[in-house]
Amino acid sequence: MKIFVDTANLQDIEEALKRGFASGITTNPSILSKEERRDFGTHIRDIIALLRRYEADIPLSVELFTTDPDAMIVQAEQFVTSFGDYKNLAIKVPVGWDELRVIHAIRRMGARVNCTCCMSYNQAIMAALAGANYVSLFWGRIRDTGSDAATVVRQVRQTFREQGTDAEIIVGSIRQMIDVNEALQAGADIVTVPPKFFPQMCAHPKTDEAVQQFISDFRAWSAAEPAIEVVVASPNGNGAALLELAADGGAQHP
Ligand code: E4P
Repeated sequence: MKIFVDTANLQDIEEALKRGFASGITTNPSILSKEERRDFGTHIRDIIALLRRYEADIPLSVELFTTDPDAMIVQAEQFVTSFGDYKNLAIKVPVGWDELRVIHAIRRMGARVNCTCCMSYNQAIMAALAGANYVSLFWGRIRDTGSDAATVVRQVRQTFREQGTDAEIIVGSIRQMIDVNEALQAGADIVTVPPKFFPQMCAHPKTDEAVQQFISDFRAWSAAEPAIEVVVASPNGNGAALLELAADGGAQHP
């Protein structure tokens, strides 16, 4: 079970890295377009520098942003040249008939592939057979079509397990917190989640209530507690000294 962070925002990535739960980062051209306009390569290098600063040797998915298959292969070579020193780079390629050729070519370059935009069982199977290391199934977008995303994930999981397929299933396109739970329960290896959901995933009103109660009960108890007498050995070993421990924890000789 792994959670990836679905963002290109440096601050959000850093907040996740500080908390240790992130097992990977996924980006796509739309996600990048939400950041302040700047050179694409510089931004990806900044993400890599951040990962290194936190000693987080975790997969970073970067998507090709051209559609002609030959141009995609050239762009993938540029990604390998520019970012390939980061060994956990995964080049994201949308699934498609011509794109299988791109996946195969990238794998032959020795780079890893995250085959993205998969909406069906067949697409996931074809992506894995072409050599993709990750297949990304788009939970929210599958549901938009009226199909059951959990069934698609479950079926792909079952076939990968039965056939001993190495490709890992990433579930993306998360729209609500319950999507994360259901995707993991359906058999996703990884769910990639927009950062806005993380604080919510750690919170519960009954947790707040319990913590408040513990603190206020303790404060009431410690304020009301009378001084306690404690017998301690004297420093020279001759007998015992009597100390009064005040309620605030400070010790004083009577
Ligand atoms: C993840 O890898 C995808 O790029 C992402 O989750 C897509 O989500 P969307 O449907 O919100 O665009």
